[in-house]
Amino acid sequence: MRLIIQPPPSLEGNIQPPGDKSISHRAAIIGALAEGTTVIDGFLAGADCLSTLNCLRALGVDIAGPDGGRVVVRGGGLDSLKEPETVLDAGNSGTTMRLLLGVLAGQPFYSVINGDESLRRRPMGRVTGPLRSMGAAIWGRQNGELAPLSVRGGKLEPLAYTLPVASAQVKSALLLAGLFTSGETIVTEPCRSRDHSERMLRAAGADLRVEGLRVRIRGRKPLKPLTINVPGDISAAAFFLVAGCLHPRAALTLEKVNLNPTRTGIIDVLKAMGAPLEIIPGEETAGEPAGSIRVTSGRLHGLEVGGAMIPRLIDEIPVLAVAAALAEGETLIRDAAELKVKESDRIAMVAGELARMGAEIYARPDGFRIKGVRRLRGAVVDSHGDHRLAMALAMAGLVAEGTTEVRGAECIAISYPGFTADLARLGVMVKEEDD
Ligand code: S3P
Repeated sequence: MRLIIQPPPSLEGNIQPPGDKSISHRAAIIGALAEGTTVIDGFLAGADCLSTLNCLRALGVDIAGPDGGRVVVRGGGLDSLKEPETVLDAGNSGTTMRLLLGVLAGQPFYSVINGDESLRRRPMGRVTGPLRSMGAAIWGRQNGELAPLSVRGGKLEPLAYTLPVASAQVKSALLLAGLFTSGETIVTEPCRSRDHSERMLRAAGADLRVEGLRVRIRGRKPLKPLTINVPGDISAAAFFLVAGCLHPRAALTLEKVNLNPTRTGIIDVLKAMGAPLEIIPGEETAGEPAGSIRVTSGRLHGLEVGGAMIPRLIDEIPVLAVAAALAEGETLIRDAAELKVKESDRIAMVAGELARMGAEIYARPDGFRIKGVRRLRGAVVDSHGDHRLAMALAMAGLVAEGTTEVRGAECIAISYPGFTADLARLGVMVKEEDD
């Protein structure tokens, strides 16, 4: 599908971004392992989270929905999963595959998990390595680095492990595996990644403690079911935050957005670039801070971003590059080599596609150097099957001169199924055309 976008004369209105992707995945998985009925409202019905639901169903979990954003998971406890009759399909979702590998490692049965072409290229050794050290037998291409992966789990031993790179997926996989051991698993990160798993596992009654960059979990404690109201995804809101800053006549409010400090790097960086963002704190939901964000047109300037900030905005870097492309002066994004192993090689693809629109962006081994220009020009660009690249390019199209056509835009449904409808509600002239 092609998304055809005309830059609108103004960009005004309110948007409720879809439910947070990371929290939706975790709510389903933790709900499946709890004893009783977990009710999830605001569940993200994007393809990635649907992959998690389907894998859990194949493992014997009774799940209803999503129905109007509601998912009901009837969990049977830590020992309730069944050997799947077929290959588990994680689709495009790294979170599904990595978190479920942690669960599968604890199961006394055989399972196989696979994904789409993009996911089959992504590194899994970072999860399969430590899970093997806990005692799981795992097979896969390149000695367990690449999916499809098969797992024969059970009889796990606790592990003390320090992650070489901050990763919430790896941390979460090991914490989930830790639930199936009868000792204490300790996971230490080099810098803090998103902590939704820790918050939700604690809320469900897991014996889990956070001490600085170290998380300790004692296994075998039964989990209680939860009632979860998923806040809006700041990674989805980020597209509109950037478009709002860059558009000369903009006033947007993003409502009920997750404001977990491990996720709000994009707010901090845009503010440091001079963006007029206003945060209106709201009610806490799902054990997570939430609130609204108001954005109006601003003049941005470039800066340097790296270090511990990177995990706090890793998924927002494609759209941050769009902001930097139109900021005054130079932006340097470093320490972000992880971008190469996301849904696409985001360093090469973001640089290549934004350059087609006239951006002065240069790929570096661990990020980008971007020199701000005064205008971008509309162009035919490609998503390379990467949902966040597709939406970042659409935002560039909102502030470019002339028409922008984003090819391969169907992947947007992976994380933001209502994206085109939300753009149209803001009065943007946007069309979806079949290839
Ligand atoms: C996620 C963690 C991040 C992020 C991904 C979602 C999660 O990946 O990029 O989109 O839900 O835990 P890493 O753990 O690989 O950094």
